[in-house]
Amino acid sequence: MKKLIITIDGHAATGKSTQAKRLAKKLGYVYVDTGAMYRAITLFAYQQEPIGEIDYNLLQQSLDQIQIHFEGKADAQQIFLNGTEVTTAIRKPEINNLVSQVAAKEPIRFFLKKLQRELGANKGIVMDGRDIGTVVFPEAACKFFLTANVSVRAQRRYEEQLAQGHEESLEAVLTNLKSRDALDETRSVAPLKKAADAIEIDVSDQTIEEVFERLYAQVLEKLAL
Ligand code: CDP
Repeated sequence: MKKLIITIDGHAATGKSTQAKRLAKKLGYVYVDTGAMYRAITLFAYQQEPIGEIDYNLLQQSLDQIQIHFEGKADAQQIFLNGTEVTTAIRKPEINNLVSQVAAKEPIRFFLKKLQRELGANKGIVMDGRDIGTVVFPEAACKFFLTANVSVRAQRRYEEQLAQGHEESLEAVLTNLKSRDALDETRSVAPLKKAADAIEIDVSDQTIEEVFERLYAQVLEKLAL
């Protein structure tokens, strides 16, 4: 049976991972959360320098000491940084506030892009992020771009964070989403933008189920081609 590379890019907290996990589960594909990979590198840098500024020269030199891998099925996936499970630690507000600065650095993107392309080499993959349809897999057959009203996204992320035990005000969450989107859209390397051949979906007024049905219908069409 034909196997696809499915890319889901878009703004922060639009439910990309939720949709990507469901698609991967339904299709029996591998799921890769590339945001989690950028977050893991940010956590590594934060652990070296929790108080001061990140030393990007040092971080670049340390990239060969960083090992990131995923374990478990799509809907219960865990991420490991140098053998330690960091699935929840990478969602801390401190990491939210640093990750887009780290992700703007060219050597870091180069390092992760290589890993991401290796993970997708056999196709049968759903990968979500910011530059997957534009830079990592420009050749992918099935691309989506999710967006939504920022207050809807902030409310959603605020509740998600509370459930994970990361307490932060709704206002702080909103500020972080806005600032990450701005950094992600304006950086010079692999900025967040819709690929010309991606299908854009505004999820503001749609349920998870409705969005999923739309994505899945599109995937079935691509599989039938
Ligand atoms: O889940 P959420 O939408 O909040 O973000 P994420 O997917 O975990 O990504 C966290 C951050 O990593 C983003 O704000 C980007 O700065 C960066 N990122 C990126 O630059 N490129 C990717 N392919 C994925 C994430």
